[in-house]
Amino acid sequence: MLYTQTISCPIPYSLFTFSVPFTLRFQTATLSTMKEISLTGIKPTGDLHIGNYFGAIKPALELAKTYDARYFIADYHGLNTMKDPAELSSTARHVAAGWLAAGLDPEKVLFYRQSAIPEVFELTVMLTAFTSKGMMNRAHAYKAAVQDNTDKGDDPDAGVNMGLFTYPILMAADIIIFDSDVVPVGKDQVQHIEMAADIVQSVNANYGKPVLKIPRAGVQPDSAVVPGLDGRKMSKSYNNTIPLFAPENTLKKTIMRMLTNSQTVEEPKDPDTCQIFQLYRLFANKEEQAALAAHYRAGGMGWGMAKEELFLAANRLLAPMRERYNAIMADIPALDKILEQGAEKARPIAAATVKRFRKAAGID
Ligand code: TRP
Repeated sequence: MLYTQTISCPIPYSLFTFSVPFTLRFQTATLSTMKEISLTGIKPTGDLHIGNYFGAIKPALELAKTYDARYFIADYHGLNTMKDPAELSSTARHVAAGWLAAGLDPEKVLFYRQSAIPEVFELTVMLTAFTSKGMMNRAHAYKAAVQDNTDKGDDPDAGVNMGLFTYPILMAADIIIFDSDVVPVGKDQVQHIEMAADIVQSVNANYGKPVLKIPRAGVQPDSAVVPGLDGRKMSKSYNNTIPLFAPENTLKKTIMRMLTNSQTVEEPKDPDTCQIFQLYRLFANKEEQAALAAHYRAGGMGWGMAKEELFLAANRLLAPMRERYNAIMADIPALDKILEQGAEKARPIAAATVKRFRKAAGID
């Protein structure tokens, strides 16, 4: 009370005039280290496609321009669904190689495997004490599994392991341990980030001080809609994907398989309702887009030619990425080393968060 009264009296004005130059100097001097922290979690998956690239990988890599960007392979999350060791081990490396080939620069950003940071699991256990079971009951992925089972007349929890049930807590630990400000995610993951923020608030409220940082979701405002071979959203579950690192002839064959209507070569065509053109726009510059659109509208251009143009533009971007990918996958020990070096840089940050929390909790 006394303290509050002191700061409302005139004294702070003189403090204020004093502190301004200091504050300014401090901010200028530390501007580069004052960037907000972004964290991207990457689920292990073996077959990255063009939809992953434009919808997730490319926008996430752009974060490195504005944020102190951190990326990790969520391999312990993968364990919930992948019980085959060869599959988990190979998908974790494929996806890591894929992000590196797509332009992730491990010299400039943190890049590590979740499994290399044991502090994440220590924090997970601590967070379970602040997470209500009711909140986990409401998590979308768990609720969807229960609904599925109920619809089939099965036991509601059939096939649900505790990894799936507590998934949001491990994900919260992933985020919180690196003091993340922003977590770029798709709409389906926003609930997880809100849960992480909720858990942090319970911790901070309990100790009456900001022990952990509250994260927020960074939902991509105009994340690219990438149509698949059949015009629906490109997705593994629709089996309509164009693989990112396939050999050139496979890329060509896949594009040639794209579904089209039965318009004749002579008929003028509408680029705006055509998935070939929608994909072309992702790879081509403005002039190229205008030229192909004019071709569509003029008539005299068959679907085969539109697909050929798409293939050429796609291959121009993908060929060097494919080469990098193949080179990385040809030297797995070097890839592992990159990830280990990332983990070495990441662990002290993780250890500091756990230490801070343990101290606040009285486990010191
Ligand atoms: N749940 C995310 C997904 O399904 C992957 C993930 C795990 C993640 N931990 C994270 C994403 C932490 C962001 C931050 O894609």
